[in-house]
Amino acid sequence: MVDSAAGRTNGERVPTGIVGLDEMLGGGLLYNSVAVIKGAPGTGKSCLGMEFIAKGILNYGEPGLIITFEEFPRQIYRDAISIGFDLRAFEHGQQLRTIFTTPAVFLREIQQPGGIFDRTIEEISAKRVFVDSMTQLERITQDPVQLREIMYTFLNGLLRYDITALVTQEDAFITGNMSVAEAGLSYIVDTIIQLRYVEISSSMDRAILVLKHRASNHDKSIRRMLITSAGIEVKTAFEGREGILSGNPYMTRRVKKAEEFLK
Ligand SMILES: Nc1ncnc2c1ncn2[C@@H]1O[C@H](COP(=O)(O)OP(=O)(O)OP(=O)(O)O)[C@@H](O)[C@H]1O
Ligand SMILES: [Mg+2]
Repeated sequence: MVDSAAGRTNGERVPTGIVGLDEMLGGGLLYNSVAVIKGAPGTGKSCLGMEFIAKGILNYGEPGLIITFEEFPRQIYRDAISIGFDLRAFEHGQQLRTIFTTPAVFLREIQQPGGIFDRTIEEISAKRVFVDSMTQLERITQDPVQLREIMYTFLNGLLRYDITALVTQEDAFITGNMSVAEAGLSYIVDTIIQLRYVEISSSMDRAILVLKHRASNHDKSIRRMLITSAGIEVKTAFEGREGILSGNPYMTRRVKKAEEFLK
């Protein structure tokens, strides 16, 4: 199904195209907003961002731009293939561009009319932008106040265009502790999607939840997330378990009793 890419309006939803996630988001991201995906290394932040871009092209006819401070484009293409998306083909078809640069250079470009960001967005009429990752902006300065200003400048630079953006930020902790206020990014963005590792019966699962979604109602449940060769699948909520956010959930007494009864 290909929708028209033309003329989204304020308040409109931009579906990520990711099975289950749009339902959690009450239809999708907010048009011309920035959403952050937070999570520990390997939780699936880059996969989620790549799928947002790929589904934009495939399902909604919306060209995309990937800005990466972390991986060479060839690594990104390889990772995208493993979840079923041929980004190189999109690039050849003028539906995708990938910019691999440093945060300092990009920050300069984004404030400059006619800079590489302007030109790339205009050349392919990009509607979706994925930035991987905002954590790298911390290399520019150690000062939290200055860092917050830089992040603000960066995000405002992105939103000068007719686009919707998804950015990633790395959590320092694998499980347990939630760190919310890194340089204030969580306060500036409109939507926060949190990815977590969860240990269940001696194996690691992935969990996803929407912590914040400005100006709209959203699903508050914590759901299981799968990464497959056909992309990301957001499943139903973890039933009968508490303490998911601690990383070590335990069965609620009712479920435990039922399981004992069925033994
Ligand atoms: N086809 C697949 N099936 C199952 N799991 C997969 C598949 N492709 C990738 N993965 C898993 O996805 C994970 C990588 O996800 P991703 O690179 O998106 O994480 P990340 O949060 O961006 O990590 P980092 O912070 O290191 O950049 C790997 O752990 C890998 O096991
Ligand atoms: Mg990554």
